[in-house]
Amino acid sequence: MTDNAKNPPAADGLILVLGATGKTGRRLVTRLRDQGRVVRAASRSGETRFDWYDRATWAPVLDGVTALYLVGPPEPGPIADFVDRAAAAGVRRFVVLSARGIEVFGDSFEPSMAEAERVVREAGVDWTVIRPNNFSQNFDEDIFADALREGRLALPVGDVPEPFIDVHDIAEVAAALLTEDGHTGRVYELSGPRALSFAEAVAELAQAWGRPMRFEHITADAYTAELTAAEVPAAPARALADVLAWLTEGHNATPTTGVRDVLGRDPRDFSEYAKTSAPSERPL
Ligand SMILES: NC(=O)c1ccc[n+]([C@@H]2O[C@H](COP(=O)([O-])OP(=O)(O)OC[C@H]3O[C@@H](n4cnc5c(N)ncnc54)[C@H](OP(=O)(O)O)[C@@H]3O)[C@@H](O)[C@H]2O)c1
Repeated sequence: MTDNAKNPPAADGLILVLGATGKTGRRLVTRLRDQGRVVRAASRSGETRFDWYDRATWAPVLDGVTALYLVGPPEPGPIADFVDRAAAAGVRRFVVLSARGIEVFGDSFEPSMAEAERVVREAGVDWTVIRPNNFSQNFDEDIFADALREGRLALPVGDVPEPFIDVHDIAEVAAALLTEDGHTGRVYELSGPRALSFAEAVAELAQAWGRPMRFEHITADAYTAELTAAEVPAAPARALADVLAWLTEGHNATPTTGVRDVLGRDPRDFSEYAKTSAPSERPL
């Protein structure tokens, strides 16, 4: 066996995708496999069992891995130890899913992503960070979907424009970062090509999906109360309300060039998402 075969370039080895049943991870797994890459898809309920809070699951998922996509845990506690273990096990390339604006709100509202960024920077490994805007798929697969099913999305975001990003673009960018050289030490802010207010987004979806749906601005306190009434625990409810209210300051409102910088093409427009998505009738 040559050294190269024993120690393949990070881009050609086994790729570990964490959060592999999630919105970005499952699309990333599909994309990498379509490209002929060897992928280990890991999460608590996925193909390979991995739980951030069950350390016995760490070594088996890391075995033989050269590059990994890091979707952090709800709380930052295990991240530093996991990255240490991964680096010691031979993982050389880390692509970290973070969020646009993290440098401002990170430690207060999203400590896990802030910690993941910090840890990989200090781990002596090749790292790339992606910081997306709000996902378009939040409207049909995540936090806004239940409300829209009832016909009313009420958020503390006012009329601030948001360049929503399609998670297919995030997955395509992540696949490129995991498999191509030249992105080490870069932070890519990823947005869609067009900023639209949440009211405009809901109006576009109402038309595309053929349903009556409306947007309403409410205060962060009122939104927190609605979330807790829907059985979201108090701390994450408050954090989500505060992050959304923070958007009204306009920090994330301008489209970025991140998708074009990595893929050499413009990101998908929200109208494409609206046409190709279909709201599910079942509760999340
Ligand atoms: N939504 C947005 O607009 C937005 C924007 C910017 C950044 N982000 C960030 O994106 C991240 C979420 O990524 P996503 O949307 O691709 O995923 P997601 O759809 O939220 O799914 C979460 C994934 O994490 C896995 N997971 C949850 N708890 C776990 C645990 N204890 N151990 C191992 N795996 C666990 C889940 O799988 P199992 O249930 O099978 O374990 C699932 O695969 C969050 O950090 C969020 O803050 C989101």
